[in-house]
Amino acid sequence: MTTVGIIGAGHIGSTLAKGLVDRGYDVVISNSRGPETLADLVAELGPRARAATADEAAAAGDWAIVTVPLKALDAVPVAPLAGKIVVDTNNYYWERDGRIAELEAGQVTTSRMLQRHLPESRVVKGFNHIMSGDILTDGTPAGTVDRRALATSSDDAEAVEFITALYNQFGFDTVNAGPLDESWRVERDRPAYVVRQNADELEANLARAER
Ligand SMILES: NC(=O)c1ccc[n+]([C@@H]2O[C@H](COP(=O)([O-])OP(=O)(O)OC[C@H]3O[C@@H](n4cnc5c(N)ncnc54)[C@H](OP(=O)(O)O)[C@@H]3O)[C@@H](O)[C@H]2O)c1
Repeated sequence: MTTVGIIGAGHIGSTLAKGLVDRGYDVVISNSRGPETLADLVAELGPRARAATADEAAAAGDWAIVTVPLKALDAVPVAPLAGKIVVDTNNYYWERDGRIAELEAGQVTTSRMLQRHLPESRVVKGFNHIMSGDILTDGTPAGTVDRRALATSSDDAEAVEFITALYNQFGFDTVNAGPLDESWRVERDRPAYVVRQNADELEANLARAER
């Protein structure tokens, strides 16, 4: 049985938790306010889900998802995520996160920021450019004509294989944008961001992105 530690229980965290439970995973989900505030969510998710602190969720996961406002990255537990694949859904919204100069100067990517914070983890971008409401509805079986594709990015080849399999379980093709330093191509306001596209269209949109 695979257990997924989820840090963040908002739009994306709760949606992925449901999708994972439906696919036979156990999930341990957390937020900033404490497990007791997640009672309704875990009741809805059923017996495969439990709520915990972020530290406990990180420790319990065979792999993990970090899905919090970017300004909260520094609070993500480090030691319990060492050695683990960590799916990074996070985006930069200066209106919410405050201005982050090195992002605005194009000197870093949001995923690189998480990788820097988690130096012993294997960070892989995932589900960052699809609206939460589409994650459980837009997927189709492999081989479907015009199947929706999602981008990923990682410095770790096995993590790319991992997310490719996970995307497939959720009904999406994968396009690899390359190492984390290339993941700006799928960040906010780039052509590939939050539009429905198949793999060919996504590849083209990644290629024509300008920093
Ligand atoms: N919404 C979308 O459709 C969408 C799509 C793709 C990517 N994203 C990106 O994915 C990330 C999550 O988005 P969202 O829409 O799910 O955000 P959200 O609905 O605002 O939820 C954020 C979650 O993070 C939790 N959190 C904040 N600080 C934390 C901490 N220190 N430790 C543990 N949990 C913490 C919050 O808990 P509390 O409520 O207890 O503070 C909340 O459960 C963001 O970076 C966003 O830009 C969002």
